[in-house]
Amino acid sequence: MSEPELSQAEKPGGPPALVIDQDAPLLLDEPGRAENPLPGVATKVLAENGPCFVCHANYQAEPLAKQHAGSDVGCVACHGPSYAHRNDENNTTPPDVMYPRNGIDPACRKCHASHDVPAGKIVTLWLQRFPDKTDAQSIVCTDCHGDHRLKVRTVRWDKKTGKLL
Ligand code: HEC
Ligand code: HEC
Ligand code: HEC
Ligand code: HEC
Repeated sequence: MSEPELSQAEKPGGPPALVIDQDAPLLLDEPGRAENPLPGVATKVLAENGPCFVCHANYQAEPLAKQHAGSDVGCVACHGPSYAHRNDENNTTPPDVMYPRNGIDPACRKCHASHDVPAGKIVTLWLQRFPDKTDAQSIVCTDCHGDHRLKVRTVRWDKKTGKLL
């Protein structure tokens, strides 16, 4: 075939093109991001997180990842490009950057120096998410933000050294 065929979308009256799953909870039409300074960011973000979603599909709808992808802070910005990890079919190579518990707050603070939130809201969320914890020193950002932790693990690395456990 030498002539390229018209896609379904280009045919008048045809069904929509099978390019993008409109039901996917991605960032294509995300409302409330008018302040986003980067035009065309959705495409870029898809290109960036796509390789990770191949295996981490459950992170497509995860709030922490979504909030950041909308501002062009993708998986790679926080975990590194992780080429060896994503190409390892045996799943024994860790990603470039992991976060031991005491590394989480410093990493978040690099971009979020302040936390201008009314105390009442903070306490409410605290009570919702971990009512049993009473020591403020032991709480990290991701205790309150996102649903970013794996419920089930098949592989585990030491988050500091990357050693397979
Ligand atoms: C804003 C920075 C940031 C972004 C963006 C981000 N992560 Fe993370 N990720 C973290 C931090 C911090 C932790 C550690 C969270 C914790 O232990 O509470 C983490 C932990 C994880 C974990 C391990 C969870 C566990 O239970 O040990 C996986 C898997 C992961 N991220 C995958 C992803 C994927 C896939 C993306 C993109 C879709 C992504 N992350 C985007 C910061 C980020
Ligand atoms: C590379 C910079 C960067 C890092 C690191 C980072 N963030 Fe963000 N974060 C952003 C940007 C940019 C936005 C979107 C702009 C905004 O709403 O402030 C954002 C948005 C957010 C929001 C949504 C704010 C809102 O108004 O809805 C939360 C919550 C958040 N980040 C928490 C975290 C946490 C928790 C971490 C550590 C795991 C983290 N961020 C690490 C840059 C970063
Ligand atoms: C005890 C719970 C709790 C912890 C811990 C917590 N936050 Fe928040 N955070 C909140 C609440 C509640 C809001 C307000 C959300 C809303 O208005 O719906 C918020 C809002 C935010 C926002 C958006 C508003 C703003 O100030 O820009 C960012 C960004 C953020 N948090 C980052 C962080 C980071 C980074 C850490 C760790 C250093 C952290 N949070 C720790 C409860 C928490
Ligand atoms: C070939 C499949 C595959 C791809 C592609 C992939 N991962 Fe993973 N990743 C895994 C597996 C398997 C685990 C272990 C999770 C488990 O136990 O279920 C993991 C775990 C992780 C963790 C958790 C590390 C920790 O703290 O323990 C992070 C972070 C992570 N991946 C980031 C990424 C990022 C970022 C990308 C894209 C650049 C990516 N992954 C692409 C398979 C993959």
